[in-house]
This record gives sequence, structure tokens and C-alpha cells, in this order.
Amino acid sequence: MGLLKTLGVLTLVGGVLIAVFPPPDVLSGLSSNHDHSPLEVQAIMTGFCLSPVIGMLLDERPEIETTGGEFKFEEDGDIENEDYAQASIYAILYAMYKNTPNLVGAGTSAGVPYQFTFNTWGITPVDGPGQPPRESVYAFPDTDPQRHGKQAYASLVTQPPAMEYKKKLGDTPLEIVEIGCGTGAGANLITREVHPTAKYLALDMQQAAINTCKQNHATEDNPGLTCQLVPNGVGNGGNRAPRADSSVDFVVISETHIADIQIGDLEKEIFSEIRRILKPGGLFLWGNAIPTRVWEQADVELPALGFELVNSYNHTKGAVVARDEDYERVEACMDQLLAPYPVMQVPYFGPRCHKVGERLIANFYRHPGTALYLKMVTGYDSYMHQAWRNNK
Ligand SMILES: C[S@@+](CC[C@H](N)C(=O)[O-])C[C@H]1O[C@@H](n2cnc3c(N)ncnc32)[C@H](O)[C@@H]1O
Repeated sequence: MGLLKTLGVLTLVGGVLIAVFPPPDVLSGLSSNHDHSPLEVQAIMTGFCLSPVIGMLLDERPEIETTGGEFKFEEDGDIENEDYAQASIYAILYAMYKNTPNLVGAGTSAGVPYQFTFNTWGITPVDGPGQPPRESVYAFPDTDPQRHGKQAYASLVTQPPAMEYKKKLGDTPLEIVEIGCGTGAGANLITREVHPTAKYLALDMQQAAINTCKQNHATEDNPGLTCQLVPNGVGNGGNRAPRADSSVDFVVISETHIADIQIGDLEKEIFSEIRRILKPGGLFLWGNAIPTRVWEQADVELPALGFELVNSYNHTKGAVVARDEDYERVEACMDQLLAPYPVMQVPYFGPRCHKVGERLIANFYRHPGTALYLKMVTGYDSYMHQAWRNNK
């Protein structure tokens, strides 16, 4: 097909799709309570790529000082939280992951098929002074495309206080709740391989992620796992975690945008929900890369709510090395995720949109060169695994 004819067809298809599904602004206008169909995703991507948002992100943002350094979207993918609603970006990302189930690994995982389910940058074991013990990272083979995410989840729930707690519990199954489970990939790993007798309730505010969790992970052969939508998220507007008081052994939060700027009102709501559902002596297992000063704030706020810090590993170096090790896989993944959208082939608009899509995914993935990666290198952000005991 000649270029002009192709362009004509693309514009026509795009125009029809946009007319049928007027595209919301991907950066803020998508609903997390809706799982977008492949046709809707095409329409959204087409509208997004042809919209002025692309120019705003690429051309009109001066080099401004943002938290943790001087960053610019075009170069390092920096996009400050007030620029967009995270829920909206997640809605499109989860729909893209679901609509592209047949990805292929690269680098050490070259040729290995997988579906993008771990929305986790993850960690890897590193040796050296000040590093957590090597055995604190539960290692997976380097041929596994999502090994760093697996390592983050498995290590988080096998911290020494968690293993001691489990031992004391004996044959009684662990009751676990996760807040911000995404597609439930970590929950699936834990219920199948790490704590296989556990009863695990995986919660998220994204309908598409919960649908993937139900379809792929909470299947008949994995009866310990339940995935459940909490519309608009736990803690938001007083939303509760759907569990009774004092009924849970572990609450897990792994790489969820809770406390990524400060311990504010939402975080305090979430923490008091965690405290409400945890049994006396139960553990809040929290893993994330957030500003070092926010971890320091948590050291004050969580004890004030009745938690006691019983383990703390600083995995920042291992998280940086994980991103370096994962470079080729993530590069290939971004191309594969963006490939199914014909609008990416439209001259001028396509390449610019590809760049924005790639920068957005890269930033969410703390890919080398992005602002979020650099913040881990400088120590502005710290990747911690902590265990907090509920002293009731
Ligand atoms: C970076 S993703 C990580 C997902 C998953 N933990 C993983 O590592 O693959 C963060 C997830 O947290 C969810 N989330 C953020 N705040 C939430 C809240 N208050 N309640 C429930 N889910 C939340 C988002 O919808 C998103 O799916």
C-alpha cells in the first residue's frame, strides 16, 4: 500500500474511532473503574497521539527544577505527580499490557515468552559493605523476564520477622492482604511458590488489573488467591479494606504509589486501615523506592500509630543494578507494547507519540536514564524492605 493510501486509511480509521469513542486525556481523564477494550485502547491511543498533549510534553516544558534534581520529560521522562492522575495512566497501561499478552524477553531472557504482569522494577542481590545479606534476596533464574519483580515480592514476604511469625503459626494458614496488587503477579507468586498455604486477598483500584488477576492468577488451581477491586482505592474518601478488624497476619504493599511524596492524609488513612485489619502482632510488610526523607517521616508516623519497626533492609543498590540488568528486556518490551497501534506509523505524529509513550513507560519502570532511576542512584530515593509489627 502506498504511503498516501496508508495515511488516508489510518486517518479515516482514527477519525471514525475518535468519533465513536471521544478520547479522554490519557494523562488525567481515564477511569480506573473501567477495563478498556482493544478497540477503545486503539481510539484512546489515536486521540492521544494526535492531541496537543504530545507537544506540551515534548516541546513546551522548560527545564524546571523538580523534586530531587533538574529533569526534563523529553530526556529523562520526568513527569511530576501534579501533571497527571496516576490512576488514568495506569488505566491505559494495564489495558495495553492486557492487549499485548505475547511478549518476548531480551538480554538474558532472550526468546522467553511472557505477559507483562509485574509492574515492579524490583531488586537483585548485590554484595558489599552496608548491603542486606545476600540471602535476603530470594533469587530467580536470569532467564526469567520478570525475575526482578519476583525477587522483590518473594524477598519482601520472607523477611526474618515474617518467617518467624509463620513458624509460630504452624499449620494455620497465613491470612494476607495486599493493597495495590496491580495484576496480582506478586500475589500469584506468593500463593503458588512462597507461602503456598496462604489465603491471600489482593486489592487494587484498577479494574483492568483486577480482571487480569482473576483471569490469569486466581484460577481454580490457585484457590488461596482472591482478587478484588476497591473502587478509587483503599483509604481514598474513607474507603475501607474489605476485611474484619484484627483478622489478618500480613498486609503487603509493594511498589505502590503510597507515600511517594509524603505521609499525608491518604497515607494515614491507609496505615490506620492496615492497623485495623492486622491481628495483634501482625506484620505490615512494606517495600518501595520513595524519597529517603519520606522513609524518615514514616519512622515517626508509624510508631505514633502503634507500629514497631522490626526489620529494615536498604535495597537501593540492588534496585539500581536490577534496572541495569533489565535494560534490554525493558527496551524490547516498550517496542512490543507500542507496536500494535497504527497511529504510531503516521509521519510526524507517530514517532513523537512513540517517544512520549516510551518515556512514560520507561519512567514508570525506573529505566536507566529516567528521573526516577537517577533519584535511586543519587540516594534521593531509597528502595527499602521493611517489616512493621502491629503492637495492639
Ligand atoms: C506501580 S503499580 C504496582 C503494582 C504491583 N504492586 C506490582 O508491583 O506489580 C501500583 C498499583 O497500586 C495501585 N494503587 C495505588 N494506590 C492504591 C490504593 N489506595 N488502593 C488500592 N490500589 C492502589 C494502583 O492502581 C497500581 O495498580
